[in-house]
Amino acid sequence: MKLHINLNKITDNSYDIIIGTKLAAVAREIAMWNDISKYFIITDSNVKRIYGDAFLKTLRSHKIEVHLLSVPAGEKSKTRKTKERLEDKLLKLKADRSSLIIALGGGVIGDLAGFVAATLMRGIPFIQIPTTLLSQVDSSIGGKVAVDHSLGKNLIGAFYQPKKVYIDVSTLNTLPEREFRNGMAEVIKYAAILDKQLFNYLKQFHQQIMRKNRSTLVHIVKRCCELKKSVVEKDERETGLRRILNFGHTIGHAVESSSNYKLSHGEAVAIGMIAEAKISSALGLFSKTGIKRLKELLQLYRLPTDIPRNMEIRRIISSTLHDKKVHHDEVHYTLIERIGKARVGVRLTADEVINSLSR
Ligand SMILES: NC(=O)c1ccc[n+]([C@@H]2O[C@H](COP(=O)([O-])OP(=O)(O)OC[C@H]3O[C@@H](n4cnc5c(N)ncnc54)[C@H](O)[C@@H]3O)[C@@H](O)[C@H]2O)c1
Repeated sequence: MKLHINLNKITDNSYDIIIGTKLAAVAREIAMWNDISKYFIITDSNVKRIYGDAFLKTLRSHKIEVHLLSVPAGEKSKTRKTKERLEDKLLKLKADRSSLIIALGGGVIGDLAGFVAATLMRGIPFIQIPTTLLSQVDSSIGGKVAVDHSLGKNLIGAFYQPKKVYIDVSTLNTLPEREFRNGMAEVIKYAAILDKQLFNYLKQFHQQIMRKNRSTLVHIVKRCCELKKSVVEKDERETGLRRILNFGHTIGHAVESSSNYKLSHGEAVAIGMIAEAKISSALGLFSKTGIKRLKELLQLYRLPTDIPRNMEIRRIISSTLHDKKVHHDEVHYTLIERIGKARVGVRLTADEVINSLSR
């Protein structure tokens, strides 16, 4: 199954997302590509063990030059230091503009390897093979690549599109449950802001999805990719519409960092979505029944929905002022109008937000 991301603006950055091909078949396919001098798989320690070594072996069986570079699993690897180490290794191995970087792993690997590809020799081709639900429905599409800084996440990065994205949903079978639920928060977000039918599907097929039934997984991953595609095609560089995808993220990011990252990104976004739905409701945009429906769906997937008691709301809201979405002390929120419809760029001061949350 193929989706085409059409970004034909100044230079042709368009590419295909292939959903459903197994990893071994992906390796066989890319081994046949013409004009590639060397292949570099960038992965993390967990994914290397489960999929990377076998992927390397399949590629090598085609008598091509392949190297595998692995970094420790987790967000702590998304740094300039790790990027520098990877660049040193790639240059020693004589990577050049006709090399191909393969980002095999979750969002950390996609963001890191993509950013390495974006800047090495002013840009060498890369492909994404996302292996977490979050990366399959979100981070592998749209070309945002970055590393973190001690002052905040994703502060140093670029927009750099992959040549292709291959999604094998069977890799989700080995994903720890908490990571799977983490991705489900983003899936629920897409449904809440853009697709009422998907929202109902997630409710109806909850058990099949949690049991990782293949056809339901393909359905939700494909639908989310289509939704992200439609947004990214209209706004490649996040100047307007793409901010719709920030629903739940303004307060979510603040909650995530206030928890010292004990809450996962998806858990924090789930909490953020309910908080932002409450703000929407206080402004008369969204119904109380809507909040209840959203909350019930998040809880069905065992995601938290309340700001933890030990967190002070005022402090959380003040910390949103450090976010990239701040303009003149007002934060731009994406708010929800009804299930399947959202509104971008609602400017609110900290006091307005605090007042609507304490009602
Ligand atoms: N670029 C974007 O548009 C965008 C969007 C959303 C999030 N992100 C970024 O994505 C990152 C989070 O991504 P993530 O949630 O995928 O985290 P991750 O890459 O850290 O993966 C989560 C964990 O799952 C393991 N793992 C990966 N695939 C596996 C598999 N198939 N089986 C077993 N274990 C597996 C990893 O080793 C890791 O321990 C964050 O850095 C975030 O900033 C980027």
